[in-house]
Amino acid sequence: MARSRGTARCEQGLAAPLSTSAPRAVYARPMIEREFPEGFLWGAATSAYQVEGAWNEDGRGESIWDRFSHTPGRVLHGDTGDVACDHYHRMKSDVALMKELGLKAYRFSISWPRVLPEGRGAANERGLDFYDRLVDELGAAGIVANATLNHWDLPQALEDRGGWPNRDCAKWFADYAQVAFKRLGDRVPMWATHNEPFVTAIGYGGADFAPGRSDAAAAYRAVHVLNLAHGEAVRAFRAGGSRGPYAGKIGIVLDLHDFVPATDSRDDELACRRALDNAQNVFLHPILLGSYPESLMEWLGPMAPEIRQGDLELASSPIDFLGMNYYFTFSVRYAHRGGHLRLSQGFAGESGLGETAMGWGINPRGFPASLARVSALSKGLPIYITENGCAMRDECDASGFVEDRGRVHYLRLHLLELHRAIRSGVNARGYFVWSLMDNFEWASGYEPRFGIVRVEFKTQARTPKLSARWYSGVIAANAVPE
Ligand code: GCO
Repeated sequence: MARSRGTARCEQGLAAPLSTSAPRAVYARPMIEREFPEGFLWGAATSAYQVEGAWNEDGRGESIWDRFSHTPGRVLHGDTGDVACDHYHRMKSDVALMKELGLKAYRFSISWPRVLPEGRGAANERGLDFYDRLVDELGAAGIVANATLNHWDLPQALEDRGGWPNRDCAKWFADYAQVAFKRLGDRVPMWATHNEPFVTAIGYGGADFAPGRSDAAAAYRAVHVLNLAHGEAVRAFRAGGSRGPYAGKIGIVLDLHDFVPATDSRDDELACRRALDNAQNVFLHPILLGSYPESLMEWLGPMAPEIRQGDLELASSPIDFLGMNYYFTFSVRYAHRGGHLRLSQGFAGESGLGETAMGWGINPRGFPASLARVSALSKGLPIYITENGCAMRDECDASGFVEDRGRVHYLRLHLLELHRAIRSGVNARGYFVWSLMDNFEWASGYEPRFGIVRVEFKTQARTPKLSARWYSGVIAANAVPE
């Protein structure tokens, strides 16, 4: 049986000391208790493979997630994204629901194989038309479109040519990005290159994610090529990718959880630093600072990726914002048998808060800790919380309604921490709940439910949960209620 994503993440082995020099944001007026800055962007997020379905319709090509989920034993209960939330056919009513909930923004991803079935070469107009219609629909509803180019669904045809560990993949990604910018760049103001590239990379290093390869050196090559691909797409964007009546913005979405050493022993502290370098700084440093974390590269020795002249200039092409996903905090200890990083890590939940249905310990306090670290590193670059949320053991009544008080509690605690972080100077500009609706949770299939809207997968009925109503209230008030 497939391991859960949390476990997989946990085993993949990330913490720089907290800096106190977080930059100060400037506000027109002091923030009132629990009120967010004016213009704060409230949204919800999904991704293509997790919601669209229509996996082989209108000329869509196969992605590595189609191949992975169609391989027996890979996904819990043999679930696949073949139909998922059928969003491909229900997009109009889904956008109407977003409007009803009062969302100001919607974060979605574009399926590369829907746009370029072979990953490169001729574009599939029918695939592009879908995103065209989605973006128009969002525009008509007054909802800001926030598009991610790579949310893990690499075209299988490119995997067959070596996938992300192959340097050519950076150019293929830039070509794909250009196709997307050309078609949608006049109406999409916010773009992200990758979503959680760490998870893409560990799919080559033995974790339960597509493409399901087990080669640590390939995973580190993938890390470097993902950084190059990011830089290529940013450069393409600067060269006329944004053509709207506004200055379009581009950034990247990283999973920026907090990491703490299990004890104050030197071994645990160093293990914690290695874990942080391995999962976060291999992206944050090249992109923000133009370098790789040296001690990790030394530790990796022959497993470290080859870096050619000009690579780091490319990877560090200036971005406009950083997208941050926060779900949990890890406690890390030195472990002699802990793989090539010699460490083991587990969830560090706050006592009394329990865990989510994924088995992820709940730790709202790690959120501002991570925010402060990232904010200092990025020198005040605008930060958007691009994902935060939880799978809970939802139970619905006969009408499909879920009174998910646990999820409301989770969201509330995290928003209160975010509010405090903003007050202390973190330049956070928006928040996207994961997820708009229950969907395909990767190797865990449909069992975990992350949505604020319930999806009854047999009928595809959507029913907003209590958390959706609560979140609508937060958006309307631009504040967290008592
Ligand atoms: C991610 C994701 C989502 C997951 C969510 C819950 O981790 O990047 O963007 O695809 O579904 O995080 O695990």
